[in-house]
Amino acid sequence: MALVKIPSEQKTLREAAEVTAFLATHGIEYERWTPAHPVSEGAGAEALLAAYAHEIDTLKARGGYVTADVIDVKPDTPNLDMMLAKFSREHWHDEDEVRFIIEGRGLFHIHPATGPVFAIEVEAGDLIRVPRGTHHWFDLCVDRRIRAIRLFQDTSGWTPHYTGSGVDQGFEPICFGPSYLARG
Ligand SMILES: [Fe+2]
Repeated sequence: MALVKIPSEQKTLREAAEVTAFLATHGIEYERWTPAHPVSEGAGAEALLAAYAHEIDTLKARGGYVTADVIDVKPDTPNLDMMLAKFSREHWHDEDEVRFIIEGRGLFHIHPATGPVFAIEVEAGDLIRVPRGTHHWFDLCVDRRIRAIRLFQDTSGWTPHYTGSGVDQGFEPICFGPSYLARG
């Protein structure tokens, strides 16, 4: 279950209905889609996409997405820091950022056109759609693990455009969910 934190208001939203409603006010769609198909840790992207073919087709039909792929990173992924650095600065895309989290977790920060910056911590089972043009950045949590299905309308539209605002530097990339705390 995703959690939302609004640092400037010292507020954390933990209830599903509250999180969904808050995100909707910023045009962000959020749903729980419990990962229903067990896919082994070592299974490749093709196996994962095949297992979730029905869910992917449902999303494609709903949002006009044409392709899907898998992002699969672990602490020992080569060049992980370089990869993460691309997304940890404030940016936007010319198309929606759609993620269905299969394993692990991550932290989106959203800088809306109106209202304060807020963080969304996503975990397995979370489906999120951040609309095109939304200013945001992304970090992994301390376990540096995420496996997610991504959907694209046009992969060329997904290049990050950096705002260069530096706003991201005012927020700690620290996850705050109970599973994180339990790990110490
Ligand atoms: Fe992004």
